[in-house]
Amino acid sequence: MPVNFPRRMFLSSGFALGAGAFPGLVRASDPPARVLRAVTARHSLVGEGYPPTEVWSYDGKIPGPVLNYRQGERLRITFENHLPEASTVHFHGIRLPNAMDGVPHLTQAPVEPGAKFQYEFDLPDAGTYWYHPHLGSAEQVGRGLSGALIVQEHAPPAVDRELLWVLSDWRLDREARIVPNFGNFMDASHAGRIGNTVSVNGSVPESIDVNPGERLRLRLVNASNARIYGLNFQGHDPVVIAYDGHPVAPHRPERGRVVLGPAMRADLILDLAGQSGRNYPVVDDYYPRLAYRLLDLRYSKNTRAGRAGSALQPLAPNPVAEPVLERAERHQIVFGGGMMGSMPRQPAARGMIWTVNGQPVHEHDAKPILSLELGRTALIELVNDTMWPHPIHLHGHVFRVVSRDGSPTAHREWRDTVLLEARQRAEIAFVADNPGVWMLHCHVLEHQASGMMAAIRVA
Ligand code: C2O
Ligand code: CU
Repeated sequence: MPVNFPRRMFLSSGFALGAGAFPGLVRASDPPARVLRAVTARHSLVGEGYPPTEVWSYDGKIPGPVLNYRQGERLRITFENHLPEASTVHFHGIRLPNAMDGVPHLTQAPVEPGAKFQYEFDLPDAGTYWYHPHLGSAEQVGRGLSGALIVQEHAPPAVDRELLWVLSDWRLDREARIVPNFGNFMDASHAGRIGNTVSVNGSVPESIDVNPGERLRLRLVNASNARIYGLNFQGHDPVVIAYDGHPVAPHRPERGRVVLGPAMRADLILDLAGQSGRNYPVVDDYYPRLAYRLLDLRYSKNTRAGRAGSALQPLAPNPVAEPVLERAERHQIVFGGGMMGSMPRQPAARGMIWTVNGQPVHEHDAKPILSLELGRTALIELVNDTMWPHPIHLHGHVFRVVSRDGSPTAHREWRDTVLLEARQRAEIAFVADNPGVWMLHCHVLEHQASGMMAAIRVA
């Protein structure tokens, strides 16, 4: 469906030429600029026996196209909005200039239907990232808008194959239509919109084919509104090498289970040590009573060949400034509200159910709750004072998770999103080295839309 873009709408707001756009800095080696279109589409999600699903998509694909770059390259994307409502693109986890962050009303004007916006920034860090709208995201992501952004290392680890699984969760009716009850009070006040169909790269596969003896790098992206995954690779022994794109000392996850809250990513090394010709289920049992088989690893009958079992080198670190805890400014941020908690005073009228430091905040008016000194370490205790888990995401920075419930973490991993279980607290530390006003919010998109969001100023 072609749309003619009125010329005046190109770079329609004064925001667009902010600190982020340095058109002069494009290098000859940079990949070409590209266009990304948000469009409605029909997509065969559940597969045979079901009609295709009406979705919102990037470039007509579910998930959106994989955006592939190499570390240090410059991304240049013209976003065209062909949807019936305004949108933006947020490149989740990328340390980019504030004006390129895709937050409507805060870093840019909404991109209206029929308008465009130019995103352009360098990619300082290698790793597994993703992109999604930041306007009405509960509905826009829930209808299908998300995709992976992969920034390759200069020296990637030696593996036989690299796989990407974008995990999306859908609430469908019997005709495979998206149930349009977005923003209802029940979802918002409980665990968020947890659906009934999980797709891997846009379909519901029975199995994926593997070969005995292979070593895989598996990039996992949780692009779901609200579902948390706890993946068990039965008969296998995955090793985590990165969280949220950033290298971590290679380790086996607790109880062998890879836990991913909404927006979180993990890179695994998966050695295929099973028997040829056999099937091994991958089971998601984060919600124990709702455990299900995500898919099978289906081994070919080939004889064993590949890199499985060979020595594993850690990834080279990304160029992130190391926090200096002795000189940190300390803060505490408390997340409250929700069912079985203390809801804000005048709640349901405005649909505000959750709070940050006692205040519910609407998408459109996030005033900074904190000012951090540019260049200094911030040590922030995040307190989950509710009965529900919350994946808390900070924009523009990556932080070390230094403690949980008062105990130091084993890996002090870098993350951009930390999952706080019910009543849990965690300390995060980072150098506030990216100036601007940055969002801090729960990535259960229904919680974000109903108050669990805030902003932090770095200046
Ligand atoms: Cu993935 Cu504020 O977003
Ligand atoms: Cu939440």
